[in-house]
Amino acid sequence: MRKDFLTLNDFSRKDIRDLLDLASDMKEKPSTHRSVLPDKVLAMVFQKPSTRTYVSFEVAMAGMGGHAIYLGWDQLQLGRGETIEDTGRVLSRYVHGIMARVFDHRDLERLAASSTVPVINGLSDLYHPAQVLSDLLTIREKRGRLKGVSLAYIGDGNNVCNSLLLGTTKVGVDISVASPPGFAPRKDIVEMAKQNADESGSRITIMEEPRKAALAVDIIYTDAFVSMGMEKERERRLGAFLPRYRVDADLMDIAGEGSLFMHCLPVHRGEEVSGSVIDGEQSVVWDQAENRLHTQKALLYTLLRNGA
Ligand code: CP
Ligand code: NVA
Repeated sequence: MRKDFLTLNDFSRKDIRDLLDLASDMKEKPSTHRSVLPDKVLAMVFQKPSTRTYVSFEVAMAGMGGHAIYLGWDQLQLGRGETIEDTGRVLSRYVHGIMARVFDHRDLERLAASSTVPVINGLSDLYHPAQVLSDLLTIREKRGRLKGVSLAYIGDGNNVCNSLLLGTTKVGVDISVASPPGFAPRKDIVEMAKQNADESGSRITIMEEPRKAALAVDIIYTDAFVSMGMEKERERRLGAFLPRYRVDADLMDIAGEGSLFMHCLPVHRGEEVSGSVIDGEQSVVWDQAENRLHTQKALLYTLLRNGA
């Protein structure tokens, strides 16, 4: 297993399956893992806001006998210009792991390269792998398997979409992505996903038409049209996405009876999804959010248990 968890593409199908199996065990029998990371400390560096990532990582550490420290970017000397490399070297002398949420994915790579302890991606402009680990656990719980399950991602080809592309194709989930022109996922990431799909036997399709992507799929997934840090583009983005890319009851009907709705949250009701869908019976978003805790525990245990 790699030292750092920056992108799902650094992990094999078996690594991912092992993490999901461990997360399921921990979810079923939390008492068996109550003291497995005694006195281990996780530093959590945040350059952007967070509810789920912040709280689930902190509770995950506490649940295993360790603890976590919240570090806002501007509370650190980082905010005054101390380099990422110096920060990584120093934090590595105090803590056993670092989770960081950053704007620029390259900053995470610099942090990982300068740290001797594991660095975990808590979201960057490119990826959100911890989210997708939880999504895969949720899909497996709801469908009883991963291989051959079909998922349509409707909307912005953003960090969550990129990690979904890599994660689903690693484990054999079929994925179709529908985005407006100019908002498709990056070509190099789609290429990586295609390579994964060749190896796992899953199918991947990138298109513009949401109704075509959603046809007879098991799961429809969407995320914000205006991600954190993109607020200045709000008008232009909403103009490009709405109303065609909003997940509503009609789109869920195209997916078919028994289809599920997923969203990483936070949600913007009336933008990427209608209130009746996210708050309706097909929605599994609260289970998805809960599973962040269980998959984070599995990830932290796997990466931190061997450290000093
Ligand atoms: N899904 C997710 O990462 O949520 P937060 O931004 O609240 O951490
Ligand atoms: N794409 C969203 C995900 C939030 C968890 C963002 O980056 O803001």
